[in-house]
Amino acid sequence: MKRTKVTDALKCTSYGEQIVVKGWVRSKRGSKGIFFVALNDGSTIKNIQIVGDEAKIPEDIVKRITTGACISVEGRLVESPAAGQASEIQADSIEILGDCDNTYPLQKKGASWEYLRTVAHLRPRTNTFGAILRIRHNMAMAIHTYFHEHGFFYFHTPLITASDCEGAGNMFQVTTKNLYDLKKDEQGRILYNDDFFGEQTSLTVSGQLEGELGATALGAIYTFGPTFRAENSNTPRHLAEFWMIEPEVAFLDQEELMDLEEDFIKYCVRWALDHCQDDLEFLNKMVDKGLIERLQSVLNEDFVRLPYTEGIRILQEARKNGRKFEFPCEWGDDLASEHERYLVEEHFRKPVIMTDYPRAFKSFYMKQNEETPDGGSVGYKGAVAPGPTMQGTDVLFPSIGEIIGGSVREASYEKLLGEIERRQMDMTHLNWYLDTRKYGSCPHAGFGLGFERLILFVTGMQNIRDVIPFPRTPGNAQF
Ligand code: 4AD
Ligand code: MG
Repeated sequence: MKRTKVTDALKCTSYGEQIVVKGWVRSKRGSKGIFFVALNDGSTIKNIQIVGDEAKIPEDIVKRITTGACISVEGRLVESPAAGQASEIQADSIEILGDCDNTYPLQKKGASWEYLRTVAHLRPRTNTFGAILRIRHNMAMAIHTYFHEHGFFYFHTPLITASDCEGAGNMFQVTTKNLYDLKKDEQGRILYNDDFFGEQTSLTVSGQLEGELGATALGAIYTFGPTFRAENSNTPRHLAEFWMIEPEVAFLDQEELMDLEEDFIKYCVRWALDHCQDDLEFLNKMVDKGLIERLQSVLNEDFVRLPYTEGIRILQEARKNGRKFEFPCEWGDDLASEHERYLVEEHFRKPVIMTDYPRAFKSFYMKQNEETPDGGSVGYKGAVAPGPTMQGTDVLFPSIGEIIGGSVREASYEKLLGEIERRQMDMTHLNWYLDTRKYGSCPHAGFGLGFERLILFVTGMQNIRDVIPFPRTPGNAQF
C-alpha cells in the first residue's frame, strides 16, 4: 500500500479508510494493554497518534517501538477523541524499519542549543529544527517566487573567483598545489602559474560583480547561492559559509532600491505567515513568545529611511542624554551593532534603511554622492554630510542589526576608476568589471540579503548556527 504523509493523514477525514504511515517515534506511552505512539515523518510539526492493542501487535515488536525508532504502520484512520488532533490511526500491523537503542542522543527533552550543535547530524529530527528547516525551505521558495513574479532572471555567478568583491580580503583560497612545496619568486611571493587555474583563486565573498554583468544585459537578475567569508568573527550573526540573495537591477535609483528592499523583505515575511503557520505557532510558543507579533508588526510599518549623518546625530544626542555606548560614534565611524540596535529597537522601534555612508568604510563600487566645495557631500533628499559619502542603503532590523547590505553602483567610468586607484586596488582582476562602465554604462543598483539573517528574524532564533543545517564557523567544519 502507498504511504500517506502524516501531514495529509492529519487533514484526511475519510474515516474508516485503511492507510500506511511511516516515520520516527517521538514517544510511546500506554496502559492496560493499549499503547499510544506519537509518530512524526517530518512533513509537518504535528505528530500523528498511533493507537495499538497489545493483543494484536506482537510483544517483541511493541518492545522495539522506542523513541527514535523508524516504523511503518498500517491501520485504520479514525476520528480522534483526543483534543487538538482530528484523526489518529488504529494500528493493524507495525513493522520496525530501524531500531533505536537508548544511546540515541535526542532522548531527553530540553537539550541546550549548544548540545544540539554537537549532534547536528541528528538535530533535524527535533521539533524545533524540523520547524526551522521547513521555514528555511519556504523562504527559499518565497524568494524565487518573488523574483520570478517581478521579472528578475535567476543568474548563476561563480563560486570560484580571482577577484575580491568586497575588497576586504577575507577569502578562502582554492588551490590544488602541494602546500609543502610552494614555488616563490625573488620577493618571496608564491607563484600560482602552475596552479589549477594558473592564478591565485578563492571562494567568492559575493556574486555582485558578476551579477552586475547580468543586470546590465538582462535588466534585472538575482543570485541565490553560497558565499564564503574567512572573517574570524565569532558572533551569533556570522558564518564562514552562508547563503546570500543578490538582486541587481538596471535603471534603478536610490529611492527605488529602498522600495525594492522593503517590498522584498515584507513579501518574504508575509509568505512565512501565510505558509508556515504551524511551525511559527510552535516557535512562538516554545522559542520566542513575541515572534508572530513581531513578524506582523514589520508588515504594518513603513521602514524609516535615514541618512547616516542623521543617524549619528541621533546617537550623539542619546549619548548626551545619558545613554551609554561601548563604542564611539563620531561622524566617519562604522556603526557598531549596539548603535544599529539602538536606532531600530529603541529610537524608531521599526526597521531602518540607512543611506549615504562615509566613503571610508564602504566598498569601492558604490555611487559617490556629489561633493560640496568644503569637502562635504549631498545625499538622499538633499541631506548634507560633512564628508564624502556613498549611496549605500543597508537595512537594519530589530534583534538582527544589518540584514541587507546594498547600494546604488557608481556608473561613471572615470569616477569608478578614480576610486579604484585611490584605494590602490589590484586592477588585474577588475578590467572586465570596468567594461560595464566603458560600454553602454547605465545607472543600476542592487543589494545582498543574508539568507540566514532572514531566517533568524523569521524564526526568532538567537544564533545563526541554529538556522542552517550544518554551520561553518571558525574552528568548526564538522558534518
Ligand atoms: O553587506 P555585505 O557584505 O554586502 C555585499 O556583499 C554586497 N556585495 C551585496 C550586494 O550589494 N550585492 O553582505 C550582504 C549581507 C549582509 O547584510 C548580511 O545580511 C549578510 O550578507 N552577511 C552575512 N551573513 C552571515 N554571515 C556572514 N559572515 C555575513 N556577512 C554578510
Ligand atoms: Mg554590509
